[in-house]
Amino acid sequence: MNLTLKIWRQKNASDKGKLVDYLINDVSPDMSFLEMLDVLNDKLITDGDEPVAFDHDCREGICGMCSLYINGEAHGPDRGVTTCQLHMRKFTDGDTIYIEPFRAKAFPVIKDLVVDRSAFDRIQHAGGFISVNTSGNTQDANSIPISKHAADEAMDAATCIGCGACVASCKNSSAMLFVGAKVSQYALLPQGQVEAADRVLNMVKQMDEEGFGNCTNTGACEIECPKGISLENIARMNTEYLKASLKG
Ligand code: SF4
Ligand code: FES
Repeated sequence: MNLTLKIWRQKNASDKGKLVDYLINDVSPDMSFLEMLDVLNDKLITDGDEPVAFDHDCREGICGMCSLYINGEAHGPDRGVTTCQLHMRKFTDGDTIYIEPFRAKAFPVIKDLVVDRSAFDRIQHAGGFISVNTSGNTQDANSIPISKHAADEAMDAATCIGCGACVASCKNSSAMLFVGAKVSQYALLPQGQVEAADRVLNMVKQMDEEGFGNCTNTGACEIECPKGISLENIARMNTEYLKASLKG
């Protein structure tokens, strides 16, 4: 396939940035999207040009690093996959592909397609954990009965990889699907009950401080989420938040 790429180039956080055209030939439909960018960068380096900066790590849909906005969709046109799992067979010879960074006030661009998503880390630090006594008297986790339904729902919530596609897809740049998943993961399990009220209050407070917008139930986040995180997690977080506020 021969393709035209329109890629967002931005030297640093203060640069204005712009879309730059690149022609790329002989792209195999079996390449992943990131392999196609690797080929482009090889050519740019050979020609003495600056390669395109983009984030990636595991390249197998686990780490949540590959945050590209492709033809107006977070992680591109496929469903249930991250950018690293997107293949060039989803495109057609002669296509023009727009490649931009995730855009949100709380995710400032660092360079080209790389954005700073440390806001998510700070939200996690605010409450996305449980405290366990490891003094030697720790209760065996297997001795705490958990219903199959609760275990399944907690596991589904825990599949969130923190990629930020929910924020990038939302017209309000809301992080509620991410925070809802992280709150739900613990709220559904007995181990999460001890710190449940503090957790939801602190994580929501941090989310607001980071500058994410509010949820208006458009559902774009659920559609673009590569892990199929359900909107039900937002409803659960709202219930947890209300319970914690009344308790406080
Ligand atoms: S909820 Fe989905 S889209 Fe949002 S950070 Fe988690 S995995 Fe990514
Ligand atoms: S590079 Fe890890 S999820 Fe894509």
